[in-house]
Amino acid sequence: MANELPKELPPADIVIFGGHGDLALRKIMPALYYLFWHDHIDPSTRIFSTVRTKVSDEEHRSLVLEKFREYHPDNYFSDETWAVFSAQLFCVEMDISDPENYKSLAKSLNEFADRDRINYLSTPSSLFGDICTALKETGLVTQNSRVVLEKPIGHDLKSFQEIDDLVAAVFPESGIFRIDHYLGKDTVQNILALRFSNTLFMPLWDNKSIDHVQITVAETVGVEGRWGYYDQYGAMRDMVQNHLMQLLCLVAMEPPRSLQSDSDSVRNEKVKVLKSLRQMSKREVSENTVRGQYKSGVSNNKSVPGYLEDDDELHESDTETFVAVKADIDNWTWSGVPFYLRTGKRMSERYSEIVIQFKDIPHSIFPNDGQPLEANKLIIHIQPEESIRLLMMNKIPGLGKGMRLRPVELELNVAEDDPRSPTAYERLLLDVIKNDATLFMRRDEVEAAWEWADNILETWQEDNIKVKKYVAGTDGPSSSVALIERDGRSWHEDA
Ligand code: BG6
Repeated sequence: MANELPKELPPADIVIFGGHGDLALRKIMPALYYLFWHDHIDPSTRIFSTVRTKVSDEEHRSLVLEKFREYHPDNYFSDETWAVFSAQLFCVEMDISDPENYKSLAKSLNEFADRDRINYLSTPSSLFGDICTALKETGLVTQNSRVVLEKPIGHDLKSFQEIDDLVAAVFPESGIFRIDHYLGKDTVQNILALRFSNTLFMPLWDNKSIDHVQITVAETVGVEGRWGYYDQYGAMRDMVQNHLMQLLCLVAMEPPRSLQSDSDSVRNEKVKVLKSLRQMSKREVSENTVRGQYKSGVSNNKSVPGYLEDDDELHESDTETFVAVKADIDNWTWSGVPFYLRTGKRMSERYSEIVIQFKDIPHSIFPNDGQPLEANKLIIHIQPEESIRLLMMNKIPGLGKGMRLRPVELELNVAEDDPRSPTAYERLLLDVIKNDATLFMRRDEVEAAWEWADNILETWQEDNIKVKKYVAGTDGPSSSVALIERDGRSWHEDA
């Protein structure tokens, strides 16, 4: 995997705002280390982390290493590589909302004024405007500067636009990389390969052949020390508005003109899907959505507290940790094909998958012992294992009592030589370094996704639609099962 990527990228300066935050230490730093290890980052690239409390560069490097070891206890580590990589890590103490504090950063960055500058804002989005304005006021934004924004940006369309306007006053759209790490996952990219490099599926990819689509992102973890953040957002803003919407787009979009010639072909198609999502009436919101919140239960064979006690404190909150939605896309291709989405924390199992359920055959010629034939199904498993399986009917070998059929699965996986697949953050950070924004969200995409989500969030609030409790370690509230069963369908379960 590693060797197919370019190695000739010039040195850059990377600044991580919120440098000692969970995301920076858990995902961003390890991704940079792995990119470096695979020679995709020039050894003289410098990585500055802004922190609120001063620590020396040495202490900073030790903390980065300690967290790296904690989150990546695999064997893909080399002391020599770490020694070279870590020598390029620096720590800058600053209050990021005060422009005065940017002077020492400016002094370091200005040593190499022509370098590409990547500003990774791994902070609450309410600080994005202040950081960008301060960067501009301190003369830190050059022609070669870009900015990476973590999701969720804002908590609704209006606040997104306010924040984005401040960012856009400093960086051109081409220099703004709004990250959604689901787009960097290998199997998610494989959806594009599967759909647009094989003629097989294209004629079947519409409402004539497909009955419905299911997208599930289930987690076993709770909020893991992020209660303060999570409680202001909830599953709709934290997961559905971004990750699940992006997966839906990749399934539903029309073929883009190209993946290479510009970053907009793919994004143009995705935005058309988002703009075609049906805005639900209030009645439809109450029928087609489910909000849940976990209570205590057993997860991975361990007793776990409920959401309201998940922070070693007792809280009161109606924030949802589970969402199920039946979404409709109003266009010629997808009219009449529901997309059932669900995501939740503290579910029975950790997995993300997309199921494309094809229609039943129009008429069966097989008696099959009175058993109905199963319709074809394409199951795209994104994590933890990556696989693509096609369920088809097949004759049971032998004479038996006439012709009997059973479903079999065709596995569409390719064994990979390199046992370590790159993480989503590695791929996306490499794209930022290469200045390729194809896999990042454009402003109009985020706006369209917020518009759809806002409509649901507002109805939940206005109509006082409360969370339904579910026991941790289960598959969410029973009303999510009812949501799909009402339509004579059921959530996919592996046999
Ligand atoms: C993040 C959410 O964007 O995605 C988290 O903020 C969630 O709440 C995480 O746990 C899930 O990502 P992954 O890659 O582990 O499925």
